[in-house]
Amino acid sequence: MNIPRILLNDSYTMPQIGLGVWQAKNGEEVQHAVHAAIDNGYRLIDTAALYANEDGVGEAIASSGVPREEIFLTTKLWNADHGYDNALRAFDASLERLGTEYVDLYLIHWPVPQTDKYVETWHALEEIKKSGRAKSIGVCNFPIPELERLIAESDTVPAINQIELHPRLQQQELRDYCASKGIHVESWSPIGGTGGDLLDDPILVEIAKKHTKSSAQVVIRWHIQLGLIVIPKSVHPDRIAQNIDVFDFSLSDDDMTQIASLNTNTRRGPDPSVFGNHMNTGVVRLAQKFGIGKLKK
Ligand SMILES: NC(=O)c1ccc[n+]([C@@H]2O[C@H](COP(=O)([O-])OP(=O)(O)OC[C@H]3O[C@@H](n4cnc5c(N)ncnc54)[C@H](OP(=O)(O)O)[C@@H]3O)[C@@H](O)[C@H]2O)c1
Repeated sequence: MNIPRILLNDSYTMPQIGLGVWQAKNGEEVQHAVHAAIDNGYRLIDTAALYANEDGVGEAIASSGVPREEIFLTTKLWNADHGYDNALRAFDASLERLGTEYVDLYLIHWPVPQTDKYVETWHALEEIKKSGRAKSIGVCNFPIPELERLIAESDTVPAINQIELHPRLQQQELRDYCASKGIHVESWSPIGGTGGDLLDDPILVEIAKKHTKSSAQVVIRWHIQLGLIVIPKSVHPDRIAQNIDVFDFSLSDDDMTQIASLNTNTRRGPDPSVFGNHMNTGVVRLAQKFGIGKLKK
């Protein structure tokens, strides 16, 4: 399968579609998902320190039979690890869990503006990029004011802003701003997230019927046609295969207009301009490992 690649502002390229692994359990579940993805042609895997499955992801990549350099691996710095020294330490810990010498993309998970540390953290990511241990660096969940500040107070424009984006939250203003600065947008919860009902929307069901595809495939194709990078999550091999099988059909202008009409500016996740969960990453990982509590992203 020929997966399109996106040219980033630092001259690296990344696949336009990948596998998200938020909520995939460490160990067998995440390893099976990553293996199924790689077998089906995925070359981008999106994890995070918070997901408590970096070691499983690393092991699955190492045992996949595909050379490490053919996989584009993303991980993220958790909120409790903001600050220059903390960020350097958190990055080392992620690399160790992943069992790799480098990641392709390192992202700040949330700006947590109330602690006012994201610029300092960004300087640490610039240092990590210079060392070659992260090829590209970027952010997640950064609204326009926080992006403006990063750009003004550093030498590096983020390569990526990974944000909640789906037909009910289309983020046009933030997308336009990112495009004007050369920042590529990557969509999280692209098919509406776990437990959502987006895929049952009658407009999507109708468009899917017309193309003999599923609603999930229609929505993923919508992201692709908008030029977004998209990382649907599944732990089921049939869905993993289905979600990347979106390059043999096209949505018409009318389909795209109908999907555009579904925007309600409704978030599934928290509002980034106020969100800040300060739980220590180690505590979060332990709690997840033992299935304690329902943890926020
Ligand atoms: N940067 C951030 O702050 C942030 C926040 C959230 C997520 N993310 C990243 O984005 C990725 C994707 O977001 P997400 O996991 O929230 O949501 P999502 O990919 O929109 O949706 C995942 C849900 O859809 C189900 N699903 C997958 N394929 C399907 C299909 N073909 N038909 C029907 N249902 C399907 C999955 O279930 P099964 O697994 O049971 O198949 C799961 O419940 C995450 O995994 C993570 O890597 C980043």
